[in-house]
Amino acid sequence: MTPTKLGTVLGGTRVFPPPVWLMRQAGRYLPEYRAVREQCADFLDLCARPDLAAEVTMQPISRFDLDAAIVFADILLVPHALGLEVCFVDGEGPRVEVVSSGAAVARLNREGAARRLAPVGETIARVRQELSGDKSLIGFCGGPWTVATYMAEGAASSDQLAARLWAYRDPSGFGALIGLLSEVSADYLIAQVRAGADVLKIFDSWAGVLPDAEFDRWVVDPTRRVVEQVRTACPGIRIIGFARGAGARAGRYLAATGIDALALDQAAHVAAIRDHLGNGHALQGNIDPLALLAGGRALDEAVDGCLAAFAGLPHICNLGHGVHKDTPPEHVGRLVRRVRAAVEPGAEIG
Ligand code: CP3
Repeated sequence: MTPTKLGTVLGGTRVFPPPVWLMRQAGRYLPEYRAVREQCADFLDLCARPDLAAEVTMQPISRFDLDAAIVFADILLVPHALGLEVCFVDGEGPRVEVVSSGAAVARLNREGAARRLAPVGETIARVRQELSGDKSLIGFCGGPWTVATYMAEGAASSDQLAARLWAYRDPSGFGALIGLLSEVSADYLIAQVRAGADVLKIFDSWAGVLPDAEFDRWVVDPTRRVVEQVRTACPGIRIIGFARGAGARAGRYLAATGIDALALDQAAHVAAIRDHLGNGHALQGNIDPLALLAGGRALDEAVDGCLAAFAGLPHICNLGHGVHKDTPPEHVGRLVRRVRAAVEPGAEIG
């Protein structure tokens, strides 16, 4: 099988123009997404209906010809699969039934998790049949730390206070939650590869709030365990890690976890990070989603700046975080066209 453009870059080979896909490329900014979403009772219902979830996964590919599809699901399907109440309140973000002790962790339904996550595998199998062979299909899960922050808090929070305090006051109880999430997430990723995903991504969106020692304990170590378990079952599978806000620790996260590629947020200092990398690792990122929302010249400059910052490296063009829900779809088209028309920085013209 010839590798996809994304697969080639993840193997450490530079391609120009780089492959391009966007975090949250499927979602509310697309009218065709809103139309499908209206047919469902709620967001979880959409995730549980593989025919509709596959359709929504394919929407940004059909519209923008992106180089990769990412299965339509959510990182909070894992707590839901463990038996917790999860809901998404419009305009308020997610709500999760709170877990705040080792005893509550012990009551979670580990055995039923794989069955409750099965629709995601079905969605992947359907998308694989529709997606052309030159495009990648990305499976994903949340990093154990980030998923734990939602479980401890019961909602999104700006400071992840509940999880951070629990981890200090009761490291063994919190460690049990992280251990459980690591195991279930690894099983879930393996199931996604078996269903047809050729790339995986681990979203650790709240990694950046932790001090150094806690970053190693709750982000790096659990991620390394997930990666090891997945690689044992699926040798050679390519894995992208997104430790948002890791800053200067990004290189350590990459080296210590064994992932293939690092996804950078828009605040990451690309020049500083590239100096700390060994050879052959791909970097993904890191256009500001708000430059995409703004469009026009700001967007053009952000695209050009991004391509220049990653010049000479195996690079996957993406945002630093998800597409904002108010983004005009034409702006995404403009971004993709500009990447595809780019002239290699430093190349002679004429
Ligand atoms: O296109 C894709 O990227 C694939 C699908 C995807 C979703 N969520 C769909 C979604 C992916 C990869 C995610 C990841 C995710 N989910 C993360 C990690 C990345 C990040 O953004 O930091 C996190 C932290 C979540 C948790 C989550 N899910 C939140 C905080 C919210 C509410 C946000 C909001 O704007 O309301 C969700 C809901 C969600 N997940 C939506 C979508 C399209 C919107 C819900 C809807 O359509 O009603």
